[in-house]
Amino acid sequence: MSYAIEVTSLRKSFGDHEVVKGIDLHVKKGELFALLGPNGAGKTTTIHMLSTLLAPDGGTVLIAGYDIVKNAQAVRKKISLTGQFAALDEGLTGLQNLILIGRLFDYSAREARTKASELLDTFGLSDAMDRMVENYSGGMRRRLDIAASVLTQPELIFLDEPTTGLDPQSRQQV
Ligand SMILES: Nc1ncnc2c1ncn2[C@@H]1O[C@H](COP(=O)(O)OP(=O)(O)OP(=O)(O)O)[C@@H](O)[C@H]1O
Ligand SMILES: [Mg+2]
Repeated sequence: MSYAIEVTSLRKSFGDHEVVKGIDLHVKKGELFALLGPNGAGKTTTIHMLSTLLAPDGGTVLIAGYDIVKNAQAVRKKISLTGQFAALDEGLTGLQNLILIGRLFDYSAREARTKASELLDTFGLSDAMDRMVENYSGGMRRRLDIAASVLTQPELIFLDEPTTGLDPQSRQQV
C-alpha cells in the first residue's frame, strides 16, 4: 500500500507547552481525510509540520514517500496548502491572482489564463474576476484561495478550515 501521508509519533512543543503529543496517522492516496479537534488542539501546527513550514521536535512524516525534514523540496513539489488565513495579493484582481500562481508554476500565459478563467467560473467568481481582492468579501477570498490551491493540480492538498466563513451553499460547493 502506498500512502499519501504517513505520520509516526509526531511531536511539537512551543517552550514548555506540548501542543502535538505523538500523533500517528496514515492517509491513503485518493483518500479524503479530516482532522478534527477543538480550538487550540494543534491542527494548524500539525498541518504546518506536514507541509514543511514548521520543523517537528520528534517523529517522522512521509509525504508521497518523501521525508519532510530530509527531503522538504521534493515534498513541496507534491503539495499545495490553503492556510487558515487567506494568502492572496490584495492589490491584484481575482483573475490576476490566479494567473500569477499559474505563471509561477511555469504555465504559459495562455494556459494560465485559461485555467484561471475555468476556476473562477467553478468557484462562482466570474463576475468579480476583474475586481481587486481588497474589495472581496471574506467568503469570496476564501473561494479564491481554494481555487489557487487546486490550480496547479498537486498530488496532495492541505486545507486548513476551508469552509470557515462560507455561506451554506458555498460550503456545499467546496
Ligand atoms: N508559534 C507559536 N508559538 C507559541 N505557541 C503557539 C504557536 N503556534 C501555535 N501555538 C499554540 O499551540 C496551540 C495549538 O495551536 P494551533 O493553531 O495548532 O491550534 P488549532 O487546532 O489549529 O486551533 P484553531 O481551531 O483555533 O485553529 C495553541 O495553544 C497555540 O497558542
Ligand atoms: Mg487552526
